[in-house]
Amino acid sequence: MADRTIDQLCEDLLARREKSSQGGGEKSIAKQHEKGKLTARERIAKILDPGSFVEIDEFVEHRCSNFGMEKTVFPGDGVVTGYGTVEGKTVYIYSQDFTVIGGSLGEAHAKKICKILDLAVQNGSPCVGINDSGGARIQEAVDALSGYGGIFFRNVKASGVIPQLSVIAGPCAGGAVYSPALTDFVYMIDKVGIMHITGPQVIKAVTGEDVTSEQIGGASAHNTTSGVAHFFAANEDECYGQIRRTLSFLPGNNLEEPPFRDTGDDPGRADISLREIVPTKPNKAYDVRDVITRVADNADFFEVQPLHAPNIVTGFARIGGHAIGIIANQAKIMAGCLDIDASCKAARFIRICDSFNVPIVTFEDVPGYLPGLNQEMGGIIKHGAKLLYAYSEATVPKITVVLRKAYGGSYLGMCSKDLGADVVLAWPQAEIAVMGAEGAANIIFRKEIEASENKEETRSEKIEEYREAFANPYVAAARGYVDRVILPEETRTAVYQSLVLTAGKRDVRPRRKHGVMPG
Ligand code: HXC
Repeated sequence: MADRTIDQLCEDLLARREKSSQGGGEKSIAKQHEKGKLTARERIAKILDPGSFVEIDEFVEHRCSNFGMEKTVFPGDGVVTGYGTVEGKTVYIYSQDFTVIGGSLGEAHAKKICKILDLAVQNGSPCVGINDSGGARIQEAVDALSGYGGIFFRNVKASGVIPQLSVIAGPCAGGAVYSPALTDFVYMIDKVGIMHITGPQVIKAVTGEDVTSEQIGGASAHNTTSGVAHFFAANEDECYGQIRRTLSFLPGNNLEEPPFRDTGDDPGRADISLREIVPTKPNKAYDVRDVITRVADNADFFEVQPLHAPNIVTGFARIGGHAIGIIANQAKIMAGCLDIDASCKAARFIRICDSFNVPIVTFEDVPGYLPGLNQEMGGIIKHGAKLLYAYSEATVPKITVVLRKAYGGSYLGMCSKDLGADVVLAWPQAEIAVMGAEGAANIIFRKEIEASENKEETRSEKIEEYREAFANPYVAAARGYVDRVILPEETRTAVYQSLVLTAGKRDVRPRRKHGVMPG
């Protein structure tokens, strides 16, 4: 090199960069496009602010010589890594390149991902991983497995320190699925992303079941039934929009506050139409998202896991510009009762909010835990306990609004004062009691009802008596379990005031290594 001019050396660098940026080459790129998929670099460009991407490790190569691999060397080794910005904030990113040896993961490929995770943690910025890979590079054997191990280990160490987001933009199979599963949010692109532990052929051989990849690993299956994924995207563009939107609600790391955004919506705005949304009859359905959008800034609600366990609603919004995490019982699905899936979904979301200093606002209208053999034998006790655990463990501001029913254990489960709610607000139609008036009257007045001449009349009278006594917010308010009974239209302002009030909250617990999560 000594006899080459600086211009020649620069030309050489540019040529090397160009080769690296071509991944597996033109033919492979065309094949990727034919499958309706973007390339690794095109994906990064869609997520980050224009022109902000800085690539690192573009000349990393594998050092495997098994099965003639020394002849199959591509600079970058099948994963594009680096950093850039989203709305001006630093984000680390890696994107597997299927055009290079099927995006398969070997020692060098894994080391690049590990470096990105280490940098993201060290510098306190989120990490986005785009998965599109044939899995462990078969020729690299145990080095490939070790590579996955290093990634899992880092995912866990980074958990709760920086936000970690995983996109499934191609195959993600076998043990490879566990890196996304260890991160905070999983985004799946319809008909593009596939995620499963074992494929259809193995399942057929082992259990005899005939299944398709889509059935066991498609975006729809994992967003609805399994709950492995949190976001369903119809196409790549929609997915990358979801990533940017998620990041807009989260801080770079656990020591920062979530970003404030001036939304221009007056916190003092009163929406009288809230009076019409929640019926006063305890068993009439409505869509709780109609409450949320009226309370949130500019009716802007970003729902997380909308397709899984829809009897509970989780998501991000802003009030007075401050990011909040919302948990709400959905009265129009299974009457908003708590079952295994709903408890797990909400508990996990609460822990994400708590990790990243996002205050939690709970809208409560819950009749109880779902009864049944399936629920009991599925472990509703241990899974339901996760919700109590997550709420009690959370030290961020916790604001609960009782919209209507708050019965029994589920009253506690939806963040009562006793689980550490900082502010409990209740609407006038709130019913805070051990159970609904009908069930309660049938138990405590059973003897009187049975002894009476007109049983039905006595039953109705007793139900009414109980309702008058307990089906209201004032008994709980008289004990201080409810801080304020408010008009529905005062909700937005009252929640905003509560957020301001609790902004400097300190909740210091005894030191421990970590708690033991139920389940
Ligand atoms: C090495 C691989 C590879 C792999 C794909 N390729 N997967 N090379 N190791 N794991 C190569 C192919 O040989 C091919 O090379 C190129 O990538 C493109 O793959 P195609 O098969 O042509 O693509 P397509 O038809 O789209 O099929 C994609 C696929 C298939 C479904 C992912 O490639 C496949 O089944 N791959 C093997 C998947 C697998 O069993 N992986 C191991 C999983 S176990 P050429 O040179 O022909 O272009 C695992 C354990 C992890 O990952 C454990 C962690 C704890």
